[in-house]
Formats: sequence, structure tokens, C-alpha cells
Amino acid sequence: METVATASLPCALFPRRGKGSPAAGGLASTRRFPYNESKRKCGAGKIAAKFELKPPPYSLDALEPHISQETMSYHWGKHHRGYVEGLNNQIVGTELESMDLEDIISRTYNKGNILPPFNNAAQIWNHDFFWESMNPKGGGKPSGSLLELIERDFGTFEKFTQRFITAASTQFGSGWVWLAYKANRLDVENAVNPCPSEEDKKLVVVKSPNAVNPLIWDYSPLLTIDVWEHAYCLDFQSRRNDYISTFMEKLVSWEVVSNRLEMAKARAAEREREEERRKQEEEHGSTPGDNEATEMYLDSESDESEAE
Ligand SMILES: [Fe+2]
Repeated sequence: METVATASLPCALFPRRGKGSPAAGGLASTRRFPYNESKRKCGAGKIAAKFELKPPPYSLDALEPHISQETMSYHWGKHHRGYVEGLNNQIVGTELESMDLEDIISRTYNKGNILPPFNNAAQIWNHDFFWESMNPKGGGKPSGSLLELIERDFGTFEKFTQRFITAASTQFGSGWVWLAYKANRLDVENAVNPCPSEEDKKLVVVKSPNAVNPLIWDYSPLLTIDVWEHAYCLDFQSRRNDYISTFMEKLVSWEVVSNRLEMAKARAAEREREEERRKQEEEHGSTPGDNEATEMYLDSESDESEAE
């Protein structure tokens, strides 16, 4: 059973569904955004940056000798910072300004007809997730339910590792490789599912080009490696395979990946309950939960904390 999605180019993997076609080779910087540009609410005052550059959860020299402080300063301090500044500039005065990062990613992916803010927004999310995927004392092997699921879905941990390394070494050009927990929906409105033949509630290894990430497929990402050249060129030059092997053997934080898996499973379980509730509503017109919903609404008027 094939578990590596072979995404190559956005236009090949995600057929454009919007009206008209974008200019060849570009992200349609001149295309009109399908979201409203509103007047700035702050008048002539200074507009605070919506998003801030989040530092990695360790010092910039903490990953040495595997990833140098120089690489971290360049990668986080220049590239990651650039995505944050770029997005903040792009969303000022638009309705995106009031959205959180994940909503901006979903909105600007725009069914594969990518809008200019998407790349900056997704790259911010991807890099935050990448920094948190590593630990100076990482590497080794996972345990517990994560290891059990890896062995169920890939055969052995070693086979999974080889699958991940192969995907990362063969991603053409810039992009990312992910271990993700496939959510319990085969299709989403926003994107073409890269693993339509895979069963749900399963681990998959997925490649994504440029800034694309599994959120747009409604998968739950668990681990990622950045295979843009800027991630490894200072330390490994063109030896991408050495960078990938070092990441797997010395840097992956399996503790973080395990925690993400538990959250992903909880999310899937909650979705199942939602689906069941929706099904009951369709069959019976109403459910016992309707009365509870009314009570919660009434309570919320007297207790603002409940409303949130
Ligand atoms: Fe990067």
C-alpha cells in the first residue's frame, strides 16, 4: 500500500477550480483578491503587527553540531522573519487582518488558486511547526501508541524512517515532507486529497511543494522537515540526504510528535461525535441536544466566559 503522496507541482496536484486562469508561472500578484479590503480601523495611528516572529523553543546554538547557529540565525532570523513581515504588510486593511493564521492559510489557499498571502502565512506556520519538531536531545525512536501506530501503518519504525527519508530526498525543488495523521474525511472542499485511497485514522507520509502544508487537506500534521535549500545549504551544502539523516537520527522530538498524535486522535474522535450528531439531526429533525444548546445560549448571556 502506497503511503507517500507524490505531490510535485501545485497546478498538477491541485487542479485550479476558480474562474479564469492565473498568469503562467506566478502566484498572480496582480490578481484581485476575493476578500474585501476594508478601511483601517486605527485611523492615522500606528497599526500594530498582527503576527509576531515566534522564536524556536531553544537557543539558536542549541542544535549544534547538527545545525549551526549560523544556519539558525539565517533561517529563522532572516527567512522566517521575512515571512512574518511580508504577511503583516499584505493583510493590513483587508479582512484577513482579523483572522488567525490557520484561517488565513485556508482562505488564501483558495481551492488551489493560491492568493499572494498564502505563501507567507503557510511558511510562518510551517516554520513554527518545524522548530517545535526538533529538540537538541532528539532523535532515537518513539515509544508507546505512536510507535504502535507507526508499526501498524508502515510495518516497522525502520521502514517508516526510510519512507520519510526517501520522500524528503526526492521532493523536487523547495518544499516540505510530513508525517501526518489522516483525518476522518476523505474529501475537503478546499483541496484535492493527496491520499484518496488511504483509509482514515492512519499515518501517512506526504510531500508538499513550496509552502503547502497538510492543513489544506484537513490532515493533522505530526512531524515535518524543511527541505528548502536555505534549511541546509550552509551546513551541508548540496548534501540534502545527510541533512535529512541527521534530522531523523539526532533532532526529531518524538515527545512532541507523540503529543501531537494524541491531539489529532482527540480531534478525530470529536469529529466523529459531530458527524453522528449531524446524522441524527438529519434522521430525526432534532436531537436531545437541542435543549442543551438552548440552555447554553441562555447561560452565555449572564456569563461572558462561557460564551467563549
Ligand atoms: Fe525554511
